[in-house]
Amino acid sequence: MTGARIVVLTGAGVSAESGVPTFRGPDGLWEGHRVEDVATPEAYARDPVLVQRFYDARRAALGRVAPNAAHHALARLDRDWPGDLLIVTQNVDDLHDRAAAGVVGDRPPRLLHMHGELRSALCGRCNARAPWSGDLVAADPCDCGGRLRPDIVWFGEMPYAMDRIEAALATCDLFVSIGTSGNVYPAAGFVDLAHRAGAATLELNLDASAGSAAFDESRRGPASVLVPAWVDALLAP
Ligand code: OAD
Repeated sequence: MTGARIVVLTGAGVSAESGVPTFRGPDGLWEGHRVEDVATPEAYARDPVLVQRFYDARRAALGRVAPNAAHHALARLDRDWPGDLLIVTQNVDDLHDRAAAGVVGDRPPRLLHMHGELRSALCGRCNARAPWSGDLVAADPCDCGGRLRPDIVWFGEMPYAMDRIEAALATCDLFVSIGTSGNVYPAAGFVDLAHRAGAATLELNLDASAGSAAFDESRRGPASVLVPAWVDALLAP
């Protein structure tokens, strides 16, 4: 495997043990809200204050959580893997970023947030993005006069960096999916793109997911156990 080109996809399950709730809990609600009430452009147009407050609360909650062993193991993989690597996360938290900080050196982590980031603001008019740590609900407008919104890819919007992600999948040797239910496209289709490229595919998840059958191998268990074990095996001399 040394030098293999690897694409890793992560979902809410990788942050669950840090205390960040997953999207599809047993009650089907995301932190007490129906997804269509907080994660669509229509919801934002209808009730911008409710949507801003929802994401302001999620952003504030990041200060009370920390990366877990799965994030740390992926940061080690980023630091030590000699071949191509792209870690694509659907998560809008910053736990991969925090685990990588100070570990991967001066370069940026080999990480893409395809569904946006809580700690970023997006201008609804000029599409400028800016790091953001406080509340957005009463923020001043962008320099262009546009209203700032959460930099989150809502349902019906195009995920970030799809060209880069599809190019990496088209040439990868190994695709690994961690802690995602396989319900949301395009991420749920990455395993098929990887197969088309002739890559081996591995799923690491607590339960069987909607996409489990599409993988060559599925391992069941908590990410904090499965991910360090997989990374250790991969990096073993
Ligand atoms: P989900 O909440 O749909 O799925 C989380 C998955 O993680 C489930 O399959 C769980 O079994 C698994 N899981 C839970 N705890 C785990 C643990 N400790 N270790 C390993 N696996 C665990 O979250 P996502 O698949 O990430 O999109 O959801 C995908 C997208 O749907 C999100 O990015 C979001 C949401 O709507 C947008 O906001 C655009």
